[in-house]
Amino acid sequence: MTNYHFLAKSYDADRTLLRGLFNDLVEHMISSKKDSTLHHYFEPVTKEIYQLGNRLEFYKDIGTTDLSIDHVNLFICKAYKIGGLHMDSAKDPRFVSMNIPLLEDDRSEMLWVDPNQYKLGSYDVRGRTARAGYPDADELNIDAWNVIDRTTFSRPMVIKVNSWHSVDNRFNPNPRVALAIRFAKNPTFEEFTSEFQKKGLIGGG
Ligand SMILES: [Fe+2]
Repeated sequence: MTNYHFLAKSYDADRTLLRGLFNDLVEHMISSKKDSTLHHYFEPVTKEIYQLGNRLEFYKDIGTTDLSIDHVNLFICKAYKIGGLHMDSAKDPRFVSMNIPLLEDDRSEMLWVDPNQYKLGSYDVRGRTARAGYPDADELNIDAWNVIDRTTFSRPMVIKVNSWHSVDNRFNPNPRVALAIRFAKNPTFEEFTSEFQKKGLIGGG
């Protein structure tokens, strides 16, 4: 089962630009969540991305496809932590997320668990952009997870988010900072992949 594809481009110039632009926001987010039990948290940055528009190569590339951006969140996962098993938007399904790491590290990973291992338990409504669903079980008992797929999270990629997955930043001494781009009309992972493939925007993996 395919759960992710690396993108063809690394978007290095975009990542340098955005690291600079979001530097203060990232520092603020990290310090305000220092004492929180939340390992993985976000701030919306849709407006900032729209303002940069075609100055961003990935924005320009998306503009050549049939897809359009709905919203963009800046996610941070704490150093030495695991994000927690979830599926995105449990009550309002979302299938795909295009992720661009800003503070990347090969020790930061994304993993997927057997989609049948857990039933949906609680879900979280924190505004329109975050309705993550959590397993009807102890989601932080990672030893019990039947991990079926795992990848480094250090490159721009598209991931499947409608089955159980988690950021695994346990072995990274730094916070993992990444943009998560979500698309209008909620394309499936296969629809997104086929559209990006047509434009030569999907790489290996
Ligand atoms: Fe997710």
